[in-house]
Amino acid sequence: MTDANLLLQKDGALATITFNNPKALNALTVATFYGMETLLDELEQDADVRVVILTGAGDKAFIAGGDICHLGTLDADGAREFALLAQRVIDRIEAFPKPVIAAINGYALGGGCELAMGCDVRIAADSAKFGQPEVKLGIIPGFAGTQRLARLVGKGKAKELVFTGEMIGAEEACRIGLVNRVVARDRLLEEARAMALKMCDNSASAIKFAKDAIDNGLEMDFAHGARYEADLFALCFTTADCKEGISAFMEKRLAKF
Ligand code: CAA
Repeated sequence: MTDANLLLQKDGALATITFNNPKALNALTVATFYGMETLLDELEQDADVRVVILTGAGDKAFIAGGDICHLGTLDADGAREFALLAQRVIDRIEAFPKPVIAAINGYALGGGCELAMGCDVRIAADSAKFGQPEVKLGIIPGFAGTQRLARLVGKGKAKELVFTGEMIGAEEACRIGLVNRVVARDRLLEEARAMALKMCDNSASAIKFAKDAIDNGLEMDFAHGARYEADLFALCFTTADCKEGISAFMEKRLAKF
């Protein structure tokens, strides 16, 4: 199942996926999640694509959450199934072997905030707003928001945001570590692409290993995480990029990855 509300644009090494249902503030449906899986399969296989940017269509929203109309039809089994589907796709974004940047152009609420938290880097427009308002609907975050938010901003702030359901602005989100940086709305995609292009100058295999080390290492205790890092560090030495990067340094030239 794919979703007409997802747009894919490729521009050299950059691929941009746009959540494109602005009439419903890009709310996430079952079809959107299956559509994301299809696009991620395609982008993983496409060797030309080095970085993926996710953004929302329209001026108002990145994603205003899971589709509340759909939530209204669910029983407990259906709710678990929806949550597990969403978690599978967000886990896939987090484990994607290429960097994924969220360019957050407006509301990132509920499932929208949860999906953004699965990305490697979050850049927010100054007009963006963040929140986990699920308790106002009598539910809790179900797309692993309780877990990722607490890991990103700490347990106390996560509880404040989840228990109050209140929105915070982009500057506050940046201050607490929920987003990496805040930029003017009209420069959002430009800034996301500029950061992506800096990543493209570097070794794709090294970035893949670094992402793996940070994400998986952080789930281990320090000693095991450091050991895991050493194993991935060793793997780098089996790659052509390592030979090229070190040779380029010795030969006082720019590396070509
Ligand atoms: N699901 C479905 N439709 C949504 C939606 C959502 N999450 N958010 C907004 N929409 C729809 C509205 O129903 C409205 O549709 P109609 O024009 O057909 O009435 C349209 O988008 C525009 O929204 P508003 O008229 O409400 O716009 P606004 O500017 O007045 O308010 C808003 C914007 C504050 C974001 C408000 O839309 C809102 O509160 N949305 C819901 C936010 C929310 O609760 N998100 C969490 C959902 S639960 C979740 O995500 C599940 C999970 O974690 C597991």
